[in-house]
Amino acid sequence: MCGITGYIGGREALPILIPSLKKLEYRGYDSAGVALSLGGGVWVRKTKGRISALEEKLGAEEGAGRGARAGIGHTRWATHGEPSDLNSHPHTDVSDRIAVVHNGIIENYLALKEWLRSRGVLFRSETDTEVIAHLVNYYGREAETNPGTGLGRPDLLGAVRRTLTRLEGSYALAIISADYPDCIIAARKDSPLIIGVGRGENLVASDVPAILAHTREVLFMEDGELAVLRADQVELFNAQGERVERRPSHVDWDAEAAEKGGFAHFMLKEIHDQPRALSDTLRPRLQWRKSGDDGEAAEIPADINFDEIALDASWARAERIIITACGTAWHAAMVGKYAFEELARLPVEADVASEFRYRNPILDRDDLVIVISQSGETADTLAAMRLAKKKGCRILALTNVVGSTLSREADLVLYTWAGPEIAVASTKAFTTQLMCLYLLALKLGRMRLCLDEAAYLRCLRVLSRIPAQAAELLSRQDVIQRFASRQFNKTKVFFMGRQYDYAVSLENALKLKEISYTHSEAFAAGELKHGPIALVDRSTLIVTAATRASLFDKIISNIKEVSSRGASTLVITWEGETAFAQAADEVFFIPKPAVSGEEEAEAAERPARLTECFSPILSVIPAQLFAYYCSLQRGNDPDKPRNLAKSVTVE
Ligand code: M6R
Repeated sequence: MCGITGYIGGREALPILIPSLKKLEYRGYDSAGVALSLGGGVWVRKTKGRISALEEKLGAEEGAGRGARAGIGHTRWATHGEPSDLNSHPHTDVSDRIAVVHNGIIENYLALKEWLRSRGVLFRSETDTEVIAHLVNYYGREAETNPGTGLGRPDLLGAVRRTLTRLEGSYALAIISADYPDCIIAARKDSPLIIGVGRGENLVASDVPAILAHTREVLFMEDGELAVLRADQVELFNAQGERVERRPSHVDWDAEAAEKGGFAHFMLKEIHDQPRALSDTLRPRLQWRKSGDDGEAAEIPADINFDEIALDASWARAERIIITACGTAWHAAMVGKYAFEELARLPVEADVASEFRYRNPILDRDDLVIVISQSGETADTLAAMRLAKKKGCRILALTNVVGSTLSREADLVLYTWAGPEIAVASTKAFTTQLMCLYLLALKLGRMRLCLDEAAYLRCLRVLSRIPAQAAELLSRQDVIQRFASRQFNKTKVFFMGRQYDYAVSLENALKLKEISYTHSEAFAAGELKHGPIALVDRSTLIVTAATRASLFDKIISNIKEVSSRGASTLVITWEGETAFAQAADEVFFIPKPAVSGEEEAEAAERPARLTECFSPILSVIPAQLFAYYCSLQRGNDPDKPRNLAKSVTVE
């Protein structure tokens, strides 16, 4: 996730672009840059670091950018290529006459890079974005030198259009060209982009807060649309190149709410970011094929491909996996333990990093050590990683932050493309960590022949539906909101479940305690009689995750045991499941993993065992919402819980 902005009009562009970028800093803050249409060329300044670092750089240059009436800007959250001056946006073509800012991921950038290299293009960055600047230049020049194409002189709009047909993945783009100083071209696919319509000036940005200081008239661009902004005009085109007429909407939002995408808190925004974050984490790693022989039918996933890590046969020979992490990331590790054991039949240890680092663990060179950290900077997690590395183990890092210490020191890195997580309580980092762990477990399971092809493909199809299912589930958040308004005063809230449902209960309990300050614990449901039941009385709420159909009877017994002692009960289970209707006070449904035909019929009975294992990605979401709404009901600020920091960089 990055923030992009652009301005064209009668005023100086730079003093407008910098404050606009600051309003987008929540979208990324590891580097920043601007490009201005100035003096017959594009003038670019960019730097690693926050926007304040860019300001310092500009401040040191007398008259920096003065006189430019058009420009684009970018604040980056690195995806491809670590944060550095060179990888910062804007990116330019070889002649430095075209500048591009981009938010999104170009999935086929490696192939495009090869294609451009074979035509003599030299690259200056490691980013996926740079290919766009070169492609626009390439097609512009082709038009210039081949009048036979019918395009005539360099045609920026035509060159951008042809470039877009080459891009796979997601993008929000703003492009300027020295040959067309009177316009900015903007385009979007699967990444947000809005246009602020002013008087004698127009703006483009990733999000509304960036333009609110100048106008409240907003054109929300639709997927596949392209726009040409001039000082006095905005032309909008659909994917077919046809003109689109749309009236701007008037936006009344207050600036602070707008920064959170209209949500009251970053945490709620990040909970709602999950469908997009899951899709960004999953889609680039899936290979797709047409489902029908005629090649016409819908695309279905066919394999998992980690471009970023060479998962060679030696991985399949690993005899043990050790996963280490802290807090929420450790809970992801616990889910991962069950997944690797079930799908790849590998023994797994999932250990909190602060224990692992001091217990002199028995490690073997053939062990695969997976280290999980959203920030990539947690002190205990880094120490655990260094210990395992010293003992000769291969380290695979799972992190959300490109360029973090963990990403630099690990042997291999798999990124969770969640985008910046601002709220202290982790939400989208957790579900995207799970997505990566499932992909790894499935790939290893297939390599180790623990999964036959049919089971493997079926799991991939189920995973590919999860982002949309998360969105569907979130559309029912009011049910959880109402539940929280009835239950927030409970003095004890316990979360229980078996297997995956136990692992997700650990996360559910942490979420509630850290932002609502309610005493909450998680336990394996089978442990109930070994102690926790002594705490159960009328002031207790028990939230049970129940997605393992073969264990439903046992879970029902557990629920009856706590209900008869006065506890209120909520069960989170599969849509359409009636097993808990009698036993539980309330039931919240998550979408079923069924994918089609025969499986639909099978799942109508009960979800099939193999695909049940993906439930934590969905079953955690109602608990995140519950924690959020309890926190609000109790008068807390969910984004800034007491005593906690986002990144724990000390022991
Ligand atoms: O950045 P990390 O993933 O390494 O952070 C680990 C924990 O500090 C973090 O998950 C913490 O538990 C969160 N506050 C949970 O919401």
